[in-house]
Amino acid sequence: EKGGWASFMDKEIHEQPQAVADTLLGRFNLTGDLNLDEVRIDEDVFRSIDKIIVIACGTAAYAGMVAKYAIEHWVRIPVEVELAHEFRYRDPILTPRTLVVAISQSGETMDTLMALRHAREQGSRVLAICNTQGSSIPRESDAVLYTHAGPEIAVASTKAFVAQIVAAYVLGLYFAQVKGTMYHDEIRKIVDELRAMPAKIQHVLDTQGESVREAAEHSLDAESFLFLGRHVGYPVAMEGALKLKEIAYTFTEGFAAGELKHGPIALVDEGEPVVIIVPPARGRNVLHAKVISAIEEVRARGAYTIAVAEEGDDDVRDYADVVFWRPQCPTLLSPLVDVIPLQLFAMNMAELKGLDVDKPRNLAKSVTVE
Ligand code: M6R
Repeated sequence: EKGGWASFMDKEIHEQPQAVADTLLGRFNLTGDLNLDEVRIDEDVFRSIDKIIVIACGTAAYAGMVAKYAIEHWVRIPVEVELAHEFRYRDPILTPRTLVVAISQSGETMDTLMALRHAREQGSRVLAICNTQGSSIPRESDAVLYTHAGPEIAVASTKAFVAQIVAAYVLGLYFAQVKGTMYHDEIRKIVDELRAMPAKIQHVLDTQGESVREAAEHSLDAESFLFLGRHVGYPVAMEGALKLKEIAYTFTEGFAAGELKHGPIALVDEGEPVVIIVPPARGRNVLHAKVISAIEEVRARGAYTIAVAEEGDDDVRDYADVVFWRPQCPTLLSPLVDVIPLQLFAMNMAELKGLDVDKPRNLAKSVTVE
């Protein structure tokens, strides 16, 4: 039941600290080593994997995109991410050394199920990242890593998304451990950072509501929105855009900020709301300056700029009309906090428009047809 919350989506957004904590629970021993016995694939098999292909749809595919950045960086093997329905019908290259990772909240998405069957027929192993115990996708996979987000009722996925990202990090760190691509201490440090994420998500939930409301009220009549980000901010931008399409019925376009000058900037006109995910400035991050200049560019053309940025990032203040602040965290983990205000933003927009937040028109919670 909804408890005291206005909607299931509202409740589920606020359950995200728990979803992250629960998905991490029991997966590390006291010395910080990962223990994925539940997965039931031999360490030797993991060692032999030379390519990962993530298949998923919608929000789950954006979680897969985040996974790509992290896993390639940690494990140094190529990770492709493909929409399951595209993967299934294009004769993909699959070998016994390919691990296909099927990500699905419901475990019943037909597009993903058909794609995983195809991968197994071609001789690849399939590992499911799934939130629903005993559903079709984990049942038909070689192995499963469950997310522990609890039942997700609202059509717009929120807590399942962060839990999928966490499960993918766990998988990546496990790979790094068995393949020896990272030192024990490095893995340990990331595990500690991951354990600190629930409190950081809670902090965003506790502090950013007012700015989110302000931005939603200001842009309520906008006909379209642009969302942009780079690196892991790119899938977060895509996810923020999808949320707004689904529940506020607003035309949105999410894209990589570097593409702006290759076309989309032509869309920017006076008053156009543009949401930008700003990477941390720390650690001499070269992308920070590039994203700041993207904000400058759209601002100069009259855009209403909404930034998601790290606390203490003073460069942002000069160019953003509103800033949703996130606490400091490693760049690769930042999607877990950056997506939160975007979910709240979409929910606020839908509420202000008087729409049914939990049951948007034309959509089903799980898409069981191809
Ligand atoms: O149950 P699944 O994770 O397989 O569902 C995949 C998509 O249908 C789902 O994420 C959809 O995009 C959501 N409604 C997004 O909020």
